[in-house]
Amino acid sequence: MKIINTIADIQHYVAAVKATGKRVAFVPTMGNLHKGHLSLVKQAKLLADVVIVSIYVNPLQFGADEDFDAYPRTMEQDCEQLIAYNTDVLYAAASDEIYPEGSEKHTHVSVDILDCMHCSNTRPAFFRGVATVVAKLFNIVRPDVAVFGEKDYQQLTIVKKMVSDMCIPVEVIGAPTVREKSGLAMSSRNNYLTDTERQHIAPAVYRTLLQAREAIVAGERDYQAVRARAFASLSEAGIKPDYFNVSHPLTLQPAEPDEKDLVILAAGYLGKARLIDNLYFSI
Ligand code: PAF
Repeated sequence: MKIINTIADIQHYVAAVKATGKRVAFVPTMGNLHKGHLSLVKQAKLLADVVIVSIYVNPLQFGADEDFDAYPRTMEQDCEQLIAYNTDVLYAAASDEIYPEGSEKHTHVSVDILDCMHCSNTRPAFFRGVATVVAKLFNIVRPDVAVFGEKDYQQLTIVKKMVSDMCIPVEVIGAPTVREKSGLAMSSRNNYLTDTERQHIAPAVYRTLLQAREAIVAGERDYQAVRARAFASLSEAGIKPDYFNVSHPLTLQPAEPDEKDLVILAAGYLGKARLIDNLYFSI
């Protein structure tokens, strides 16, 4: 695996690959890789000849009281895993090239229409930070296709809209959420949980999503009642609910009762972690 740190070098590399007619797939990450990320790499391998993974812990997507400093940086283990998954290039972006004058003086990209609900309520700067860095990484790497996890459904929807609205020439693909045996969606922040929280409490998020889906498939159309029941189950399990919203899969607005395609987006707090998950389905 080639490790590239500078914009000039990655652009030179990608231009040379494309000149031979090969397709380039890109998987942006913040490192601390787990099976969820590696499934994105696997998916990327199926879509292109060359796979580039970036690792960059983006300061702009962390709030002042969030875990930017504590966010796990595990470059050595990440490299081992990427090599095992036949990654062609790791682009470990240098911070002074991403935000040369600091992140706040940089041009920002906002997808306001989708950044006013769900996670945006508790993490107001998060998606602006994600959209900005992803737009910049796309302009640097210029991949043909990019793969993002469906676990971060609002993020994926925002990236797709940004790409479509701004005519960025990249195809954005969502890859299915990878779960632990318990059903818990894999996430770097699961490392903040104790063993008991991880094994016995956190899986309640996915269980509650499945129960909600079952009720809706059985005919329930009162989505406020679905949310109230879900909040009660999460609280009973020991999770402090943040939101549990039955939504339209593209606009992310509250779903109308006659909607056929739905996504339920959920988030809650457990110990030091904020858990998010979602379930997309049709009725
Ligand atoms: O999902 C992530 O890991 C990050 O939000 C991303 C897309 C790499 C942007 O920093």
